[in-house]
Amino acid sequence: MMPTVELHLHLEGTFEPELIFAVAERNGITLPYGDVEELRRRYEFTGLQSFLDLYYANMAVLRQEQDFADLTRAYLGRARRAGVRHAEVFFDIQAHTSRGVPAEVALGGVSEALAASEREFGISSGLIVTFLRHLPAEDALASLEEILRLDVPLLGVGLCSSEVGPAAPFKPVYDLARAHGLRRVAHAGEEGPAANVREVLDVLGVERVDHGIRALEDDALVDRLVAERVPLTLCPLSNVRLRVLDNLAEYPLRRMLERGLVVTINSDDPAYFGGYVDENVRQLTEVLGLSLDELTTLARNGVEAAFVDDARRAELA
Ligand code: HPA
Ligand code: ZN
Repeated sequence: MMPTVELHLHLEGTFEPELIFAVAERNGITLPYGDVEELRRRYEFTGLQSFLDLYYANMAVLRQEQDFADLTRAYLGRARRAGVRHAEVFFDIQAHTSRGVPAEVALGGVSEALAASEREFGISSGLIVTFLRHLPAEDALASLEEILRLDVPLLGVGLCSSEVGPAAPFKPVYDLARAHGLRRVAHAGEEGPAANVREVLDVLGVERVDHGIRALEDDALVDRLVAERVPLTLCPLSNVRLRVLDNLAEYPLRRMLERGLVVTINSDDPAYFGGYVDENVRQLTEVLGLSLDELTTLARNGVEAAFVDDARRAELA
């Protein structure tokens, strides 16, 4: 049994160079790179911020509803080939509204593609809007209030971008999300310390932690994550590319599984980090020599961690 659920995936991080060029041309935008190869040569990152700079620059070519639908469909097609049967996708709505794209245009394209996902690709899906931690929390709250007025199908809310400053100011965003029955996740413990993981659990009340790998630096926190079965959505190739770890051989996956953590394997920003979820699993399996039992546990963890109803969970199991 191979993992078939993807829970940590930024739609904008699936924007492949070929599609970036096609969308730019369609919108009459000249990119600061001559061709796809020149763009790909820039995919060398020194850390999270150096990646984010390019990630935000590239997504600025997305302007029309069709652009967002095409981006989403391209991901779903690739995910299907990776064996994904359920995907909960992140979308950085503020990265689009802040440069003048109306929320209904961006979300309209994404949600139109997601609505057809089960029929076209055999993938059930949900949309998680991720707010940007480097922007003021008041902006995130205003953004969520606007989205709630739009009547777009929404699964949940998340928090991403640079892991600087406290997450606590975002509590009103998470309280509003909870009041509307939305699910709650947040990036923490990627570049930031274990204390950031505690903060999103205690203050924001998240149900899953995105990355969370640095929780390992705090034994009592690990005990708590195990006891409460809080899933961590790991992204191994991302962590290597963004220098959270030197290489995959150092990836503490076995230690996490042995401790009983509910960990899942995901691709984060696969167009930038060298592989979709199948490639993450393949490389980990090869480098760490994962057993069939370990792969089965990872797959089961994904199904357990998914925000689905009992009927869908039974189908995915
Ligand atoms: N971390 C934080 N923010 C992000 C990431 C990430 O790995 N990818 C896209 N936005
Ligand atoms: Zn991420």
